[in-house]
Amino acid sequence: MWQCLLLLFCVSSALGYYAPDEVLSLPGLNTRLNFRQWSGYLEASHGQHLHYWFVTSQQNPTNDPVVLWLNGGPGCSSLEGLLAENGPLHVHEDGSALYINKYSWNKVANVLYLESPAGVGFSYSDDQIYTTNDIEVAENNYLALQDFFRKFPSFRSNDFYVTGESYAGVYVPTLSLKIANGPAKINFKGYAVGNGLSSTFFNDQSLVYFGYYHGLFGDTLWKDLNTYCCQGGSCNFVNNNNYYCQESVREVFMIIYKSGLNIYSLYLNCPGGIGASNSRFLTELKNLFRFYKFGITENAGTQRNLAPPCVNDTADWTWLNRADVRKALHIPDFVQPWQLCSTVVGGTYQRIYSTMHDFYLQLLSKGLRVLVYNGDTDMACNFLGGNWFVQSLNQQKTLDYQPWIYNDQIAGFYEQFGNLTFLTVKGAGHMVPEWAPARALKMFESFLSNSPY
Ligand SMILES: *[C@@H]1O[C@H](CO)[C@@H](O)[C@H](O)[C@H]1NC(C)=O
Ligand SMILES: *[C@@H]1O[C@H](CO)[C@@H](O)[C@H](O)[C@H]1NC(C)=O
Repeated sequence: MWQCLLLLFCVSSALGYYAPDEVLSLPGLNTRLNFRQWSGYLEASHGQHLHYWFVTSQQNPTNDPVVLWLNGGPGCSSLEGLLAENGPLHVHEDGSALYINKYSWNKVANVLYLESPAGVGFSYSDDQIYTTNDIEVAENNYLALQDFFRKFPSFRSNDFYVTGESYAGVYVPTLSLKIANGPAKINFKGYAVGNGLSSTFFNDQSLVYFGYYHGLFGDTLWKDLNTYCCQGGSCNFVNNNNYYCQESVREVFMIIYKSGLNIYSLYLNCPGGIGASNSRFLTELKNLFRFYKFGITENAGTQRNLAPPCVNDTADWTWLNRADVRKALHIPDFVQPWQLCSTVVGGTYQRIYSTMHDFYLQLLSKGLRVLVYNGDTDMACNFLGGNWFVQSLNQQKTLDYQPWIYNDQIAGFYEQFGNLTFLTVKGAGHMVPEWAPARALKMFESFLSNSPY
């Protein structure tokens, strides 16, 4: 093509890569990269512009799958996933520079990070109205995905997977069903959910057992819980009308959320100490024991930096809010500063589904591969609730619960039901790829290649 001025641009066009969004250099990065990357906007409905950052595989971009990654909240940014969890570039502690994450998921896949819904991170809408719900989010994520494949048509024939964490336990299956039922030609193969909110009932109910059997409260409270919440050997901690049961569950809730424990990782300290568990972005905690309306006071408004309790996002926040970084990522000046989590989105978000049960059944019946994995020290979305949810799908077991091995050590446990796998990562918290990066990559590779864990 004679009009091509740069060879790179010619190559890009020929491969069907969208040239204007390509990121050719990044402040704080001096290393030559063995992958390519783009940052810009994908269009969803009603003037909504969702920020994406796409990194190609370090191995074989042409043949490796395309994987979408979504963080949860609701209201938290998927750039946390890129810069602190499974992305190729992580931010140094002081926020000044980037370094290579050698366990990046783009070792084996092309990974698309999407900040969703509008109002989160650098995503925005023209009318700046950020009230939304599960149904709209699925629709907008689907529209954005179609826009992605319009910008990068050459990736249309690659295998495609949806993955995500935490409240993305809702985003992932709801989007997946749209893709599976939709007319868009996408080579959709399956999805994976990490420490996801799959069922509010199982998540809340199991958390009480998790707390007791991890030594977080003693026999007095345990006896009260059994006296007031249980009958004939069957307990209901989730939506029990007994006043004394509610008061006992409130005590469990206060210990897990407010006493100074790191809810995302039981055996890690809380950065900033006991007080820090209690003073920042608390919207995510609304995911738990919602029936009782325990009334978490949100005083996050006084903080410059809206991060979940015991999460220190200073490094990402510092780097992403640099003017030169925004420019390199093609973020227009009028777009809001980056926050790890948006209180506007999280605070007004309407949850529509309390369980993903029917979504999973429909998706499994279409022959999709499904992985539900849990770091087993997380209390926001604990492994036992994840396991009970998977059990409740009543699929035929094909492999009994057993350890999986990495580096000659037990990496966790797993069991399989045909195309459905439940897997734990031993000793890891909510952000599995951040706290168990090597095992997370091994797990991800096994999932994609449909090989033994
Ligand atoms: C958070 O991390 C920054 C470095 O990125 C550090 O300077 C600060 O002390 C940390 N804050 C807490 C509360 O640990
Ligand atoms: C598992 O997925 C494969 C490939 O899509 C499909 O052929 C098979 O029927 C599925 N198995 C079950 C038990 O659904």
